[in-house]
Amino acid sequence: MRLLVFALLSLLLLPCWWVGVWLYIVPVWRQRGKVSGTTYEPFTTRLLMHLIGTRDDPLIAQLAGHLPACSPSTLRWFILPQVWICKVSGFIPTPLRFPPPEHASLNCLVSARCEFLDRSLSKHLPHCKQLVILGAGWDTRAYQADASLDLFEVDAPATQAVKRRAIKDSGIPHDHVHFVPCDFESQRWLDALTDHGFNPELPTYVHWEGVTMYLERAAIESTLDQFSQLPQGSILALDYLAEKWLHHTTGGRLTKFMVNAFYGEPFRSGLPADTDSLLKPFGLRILRHQRLHAPGKPPYGGLLTLARRIEPDHKINMQSP
Ligand SMILES: C[S@@+](CC[C@H](N)C(=O)[O-])C[C@H]1O[C@@H](n2cnc3c(N)ncnc32)[C@H](O)[C@@H]1O
Repeated sequence: MRLLVFALLSLLLLPCWWVGVWLYIVPVWRQRGKVSGTTYEPFTTRLLMHLIGTRDDPLIAQLAGHLPACSPSTLRWFILPQVWICKVSGFIPTPLRFPPPEHASLNCLVSARCEFLDRSLSKHLPHCKQLVILGAGWDTRAYQADASLDLFEVDAPATQAVKRRAIKDSGIPHDHVHFVPCDFESQRWLDALTDHGFNPELPTYVHWEGVTMYLERAAIESTLDQFSQLPQGSILALDYLAEKWLHHTTGGRLTKFMVNAFYGEPFRSGLPADTDSLLKPFGLRILRHQRLHAPGKPPYGGLLTLARRIEPDHKINMQSP
């Protein structure tokens, strides 16, 4: 019944949605190749989850309305009608449920990684002195974290410039956040951070969400290598797509084609099924590993919380997640 009401209301508001889609697409395409467009995908999902009431993210609603493809008009025509439909019908589409289903198919990738990474952050951040968000996009976590921590957002320069403007316009307090422009393909983020007041001697939590797939394998390995130079107690949490799924299945190839065609941001790499063999040379160990797959299907990706291998005089909290 709920699904029926949801479908009928969606049909009724189709003209609204049609206008809204263009309000979203045009600014994304105007900045294509300069500012990341894919970062609107997780942002929009988190925004909808917050507005529907499945996942709390108080600052995301404050930031929405200040981004080029999420202007007040986009909110009015595209986002709010979807929220209204969910609330009136009582039906929440699977990708917006939080926590996500146990076996999350590809359409639940954002909520699945969000839940894993939220849990990892709240468990390990209290034991760290600094928070680094690599490829921050429109993420609002840094603004919600303990302001006594040193917080660093690292992103491609043009995307970060848009974020800084939006954060300023939205009035979100951000004096405690250091913005560090860096291209992961050509620069070492650790060096860029150090130039912006980062202390490489302190245990650090590194959050790396929705980025590995856009990088060449060498840039992923470089990040693992740089992380391995941080002190014991540091944590790296990330999501990835499976190499085999991405390059050798119809679903993977089709997804890669569609993301590239729409946003002009190709999925370049997946991680191998034997994740250990990738991590071992960098002296890293897995604290938690969750493979992502639809029921009965091979994995299309995974979620990882990593730490350095323990040296004899150091203890780390081993409980999951
Ligand atoms: C899909 S978005 C994810 C954003 C954010 N982490 C989130 O989950 O909302 C990908 C992010 O990776 C960044 N990125 C991709 N390739 C990059 C590169 N070579 N150097 C720096 N940042 C990069 C983009 O600028 C963008 O912010």
